[in-house]
Amino acid sequence: MRWCCSFPRALLLVLLLGWWGRSSGFKICSFKLQSLNSTKAANKRVMYTLKRVVSRCDVCLLQGVNDPNGSVMKHLVTKLNRDNDSYDHQYQTVASRSLGANPNDMQEYVFLYRKEIVSVRDRHQYEGKGFARPPFMVRFKSSQTSVGDFVLVAVNTLPSRAVQEIDQLYDVFTDISKRWKTETVMFLGNFNAGCSHMTRPKKKEIRLFTKKGFYWLIGDHVDTTTTDTTDCAYDRFVVHGKSFLKQVEPGTASVFNYAKTYQIKKMEAMHISEHFPIELELKSSTHLPQATPLLILLSLSAFLLSGLAAL
Ligand SMILES: *[C@@H]1O[C@H](CO)[C@@H](O)[C@H](O)[C@H]1NC(C)=O
Ligand SMILES: *[C@@H]1O[C@H](CO)[C@@H](O)[C@H](O)[C@H]1NC(C)=O
Ligand SMILES: *[C@@H]1O[C@H](CO)[C@@H](O)[C@H](O)[C@H]1NC(C)=O
Repeated sequence: MRWCCSFPRALLLVLLLGWWGRSSGFKICSFKLQSLNSTKAANKRVMYTLKRVVSRCDVCLLQGVNDPNGSVMKHLVTKLNRDNDSYDHQYQTVASRSLGANPNDMQEYVFLYRKEIVSVRDRHQYEGKGFARPPFMVRFKSSQTSVGDFVLVAVNTLPSRAVQEIDQLYDVFTDISKRWKTETVMFLGNFNAGCSHMTRPKKKEIRLFTKKGFYWLIGDHVDTTTTDTTDCAYDRFVVHGKSFLKQVEPGTASVFNYAKTYQIKKMEAMHISEHFPIELELKSSTHLPQATPLLILLSLSAFLLSGLAAL
């Protein structure tokens, strides 16, 4: 009688381990919000959707947050961390100060990250000129990715100055490589790199295109907008260096149409943002081949147990 019941349990374990081995990529997301302030955060549906989107990511950059006293992000983190069983993760934030020229339109960059998976080594607010909202950079470290130590640079350009601001990201890159002695850098966010804000001929004025070693992972043909009337690749990931590029799981850089996945009406999605989130996966440091012998061993013991149960 005892044998009979341990078999399904062992099988469950095997299945669980198999699932874990497959879905262990390290997900990085970026979501440009439409002015998330305390008024909007009072809307339960908005916060529930945000929680669902962020909870899929190991690191998620939010742009367009207007939360000077941090109460909105505190609320979101509380929601994210409420479900506290072994399959959920505990999130933490690292945020820039309020940025912008217009006091009525100040915004922060906020990274939410799973604190048991990734840690913050350093952070820096770019102080160079030429940005409406200067990029905010965070140096992360995670033993769960094969890349280990990397810098994420939050970007949200002014639409009318998108070309100049994207070009100046090259200066930000130079600043980082001097400051932190690393070139493992990824830019992410709303570049406004599409439609009338960045036309194709303008690419030759942008060093992130003309200099070698920068890889654009969301193509020009991709639509990162919510509305049916626009078809623009505004939101992007740009990675520096072949070695970092190789750590990105091929084919994972994409747009997450949460409205379709969660069956949310377009109008409701547009209230959250005119943009959809973008995401990609870094390769995990736990390679499947290492997990395979364990899987075989467990399958074998499950098989033996079932044999014994039959006796
Ligand atoms: C939040 O933004 C909306 C629309 O942009 C505005 O009407 C409202 O006053 C803002 N609330 C706060 C607390 O700033
Ligand atoms: C934070 O600011 C908002 C308005 O922007 C206000 O409603 C809220 O009470 C403040 N919270 C704290 C903890 O100060
Ligand atoms: C969640 O679980 C962890 C580990 O068991 C514990 O340290 C933490 O206090 C818990 N958090 C909450 C909000 O219950």
